[in-house]
Amino acid sequence: MKHLLSTADLSHDDAIDILDEAQRFEQALAGREVRKLPTLRGRTVMTVFYENSTRTRVSFEVAGKWMSADVINVSASSSSVNKGESLRDTAKTLRAAGADALIVRHPASGAAAQIARWTNDGTDITGLPTTGPSVINAGDGTHEHPTQALLDAYTLRQRLGSLNGRRIGIVGDILHSRVARSNALLLATLGAEVVLIAPPTLLPTGVETWPVRVSTSLDAELPALDAVMMLRVQAERMNGGFFPSSREYSVRYGLNSARMALLGDDAVVLHPGPMLRGMEIGFDVADRSEAAVLEQVRNGVHVRMAVLFRLLAGADETFQSTANIQT
Ligand code: CP
Repeated sequence: MKHLLSTADLSHDDAIDILDEAQRFEQALAGREVRKLPTLRGRTVMTVFYENSTRTRVSFEVAGKWMSADVINVSASSSSVNKGESLRDTAKTLRAAGADALIVRHPASGAAAQIARWTNDGTDITGLPTTGPSVINAGDGTHEHPTQALLDAYTLRQRLGSLNGRRIGIVGDILHSRVARSNALLLATLGAEVVLIAPPTLLPTGVETWPVRVSTSLDAELPALDAVMMLRVQAERMNGGFFPSSREYSVRYGLNSARMALLGDDAVVLHPGPMLRGMEIGFDVADRSEAAVLEQVRNGVHVRMAVLFRLLAGADETFQSTANIQT
């Protein structure tokens, strides 16, 4: 696997391999005072973010550093993008500067895939490796966020065991959510039954081609769900307003304490963050034991370690061989 651009590119075995690898990283690092493996020593990983981020950017940086990679963070707001440099020139510049991996967040759907093409087009300048960097999609517009889906699957597997036959609800602003698309595809690949729960105005065109069922009633679906994934309402992608109103949305689709009582005893609540408490999720709900929000963040580091390892260390190498060597 050269790039990670979409969960659609992951077979069932690919996904399980990454989740298992993440578990090995988690176990190898558990209880260590010095969380440092030599796995990616000498590799250069660059995060290139054209949109805001807390969880994704930080956890990729932590993941790279825990594997001894050199990690460089490029923020559009403080780079030459602000002087008018194009995305293509920026990507090629970072490649020429020595990136082995580019971790890309961009508001345009398809931006990460385009960067993968531009930086692996075979027109290498003298002295560079013949192949370009691996590209990881860290969120492209409303399209995909594959490592978020992987860490969500990892968290669900920790809480529920196998996802085969589990019923997972994804609730809210599906229209603008790259998290929803990546999760719907990956969870279906892992054998789960996915139900999207949203007002019709917040469903994307073409949703009928997704491997999901669609519902407009959260109350009707909650009792049968093994897990419910709440999505942030992405006001920044709505040009100033959305329907239903925020109050109506909260009343019909907010996961409040009364609705928590409709869930089964072992049901899990997920949220990719950042959360709008009091909007899509009740003020206290995210802090209850059913909620795995901070587990998702912690698991994100191990899952991103596994993804970096898989892309940069090569399929033939095994993590087992290096996991127990401490620098
Ligand atoms: N879930 C997620 O992508 O969060 P950030 O925007 O903080 O990275």
